Amino acid sequence: MRADIERILISEAEIHTKVAEMGARISRDYIGKNLVLLSILKGSVVFMADIMRAITIPAQIDFMAVSSYGKEAKTSGVVKIIKDIDIELDGKDILIIEDILDSGMTLDYLRSLLEGRHPRSIRIATLLDKPERRKVDIVPDYVGFKVPDEFLVGYGLDYAELYRNVPYIGVLKREVYE
Ligand code: IMP
Ligand code: MG
Repeated sequence: MRADIERILISEAEIHTKVAEMGARISRDYIGKNLVLLSILKGSVVFMADIMRAITIPAQIDFMAVSSYGKEAKTSGVVKIIKDIDIELDGKDILIIEDILDSGMTLDYLRSLLEGRHPRSIRIATLLDKPERRKVDIVPDYVGFKVPDEFLVGYGLDYAELYRNVPYIGVLKREVYE
């Protein structure tokens, strides 16, 4: 375990099992639909890479980049589009792939922006959910794990752009960000 990580919250094996379950459910729910997996960069890349291979029905993929916390551990509430989608969303069934739903402000903003492009449906799949921290009314459709209000890193989640390549989800030591 890395020195900056206090403890492992979710192991690689637990993530693997959960992602397989989520992929199987999504594959059943989206039969006959025009599924587009929309990964929100950069945090969800690892989850995206795994879940897209756990989905057994035809799917398109795309990526969007929005402003993140940067070096701050707390949200600013400001969402900026850095990279937009390339594919046409008209009539598509969009499944937003997120690493973690925290205040919900990022996805609340993104969802209303995407609604304006007339997809047939928009749903949210998040690996992690911190429901205690929710500031807006947003409920994910697929959740991997409900997690406590601690600062997490690994499996795509960063602190100051580091730790994304850690293969498990760990709790970052407080002294690293305080
Ligand atoms: P929200 O708009 O507050 O829901 O922010 C969601 C985004 O905040 C996620 O996509 C992450 O990039 C980031 N985030 C929230 N909590 C954590 C955490 O515990 N560790 C790392 N990033 C986090
Ligand atoms: Mg982030």
